[in-house]
Amino acid sequence: MNNEVPWWASESFWKKTAIWVTGIMFVVLIFLTMNTLPQISAGSARVPAYSVINKHIAYEFDDRRNIQVPVIGEDDPLFGEMLSEKQAEALVTHGKKVIQGRNCMGCHTLLGNGAYFAPDLTKAWLDPAWGSEAEREEMMLNFLLDPQENARSFGSGRTMPNLHLTEEEARAVIAFLKWMSAIDTNGFPYNFTVIEKEG
Ligand code: HEC
Repeated sequence: MNNEVPWWASESFWKKTAIWVTGIMFVVLIFLTMNTLPQISAGSARVPAYSVINKHIAYEFDDRRNIQVPVIGEDDPLFGEMLSEKQAEALVTHGKKVIQGRNCMGCHTLLGNGAYFAPDLTKAWLDPAWGSEAEREEMMLNFLLDPQENARSFGSGRTMPNLHLTEEEARAVIAFLKWMSAIDTNGFPYNFTVIEKEG
């Protein structure tokens, strides 16, 4: 009887294979990260700089691309205050941290991540249900400060719990939501092309 283990079943072969696969995938991951970063960084073609919160943002149909796209317009500063790029970045970043810290994603989706209990927040700034654009900021602020009293559940019967945000936190959240709504999310993930329709 031959008790010798064939080469492909030997421990050392699988050890080496594991090390090689891990090593190669690590390199692939670094390449993909480098390749994607310019597509997802603020200040790039699809993801506007943070100071976009100083501008009017619309969502319009683009005949050439055949999709809805965010359109950045005239000056329209958030809460009437023009911010420098640095100030805008600080405010939007603060808003992002509040959103992460309060786990809004436990109920909402942001840029494709999160849950489906509550409305997708990616374009919440552009939600026509806020009514007039002039009142939108105030309405969002009032809603975030007291979502029970200002519930707008549209017949779903679901309401948002009061998360006791401070006014400063709520304003930062609104800045983040405004910035996020200006991101052109069409064609993500990057490098995935549209499948041609047949017929
Ligand atoms: C326990 C679940 C839950 C959590 C956590 C939660 N929300 Fe909500 N949220 C809801 C529900 C349900 C609604 C829809 C009801 C409504 O609009 O009155 C809603 C609505 C909203 C809306 C209005 C969206 C629109 O376009 O109508 C915004 C903005 C919002 N939430 C922001 C937040 C933020 C920011 C956080 C984290 C700080 C958060 N929510 C955490 C449940 C949640």
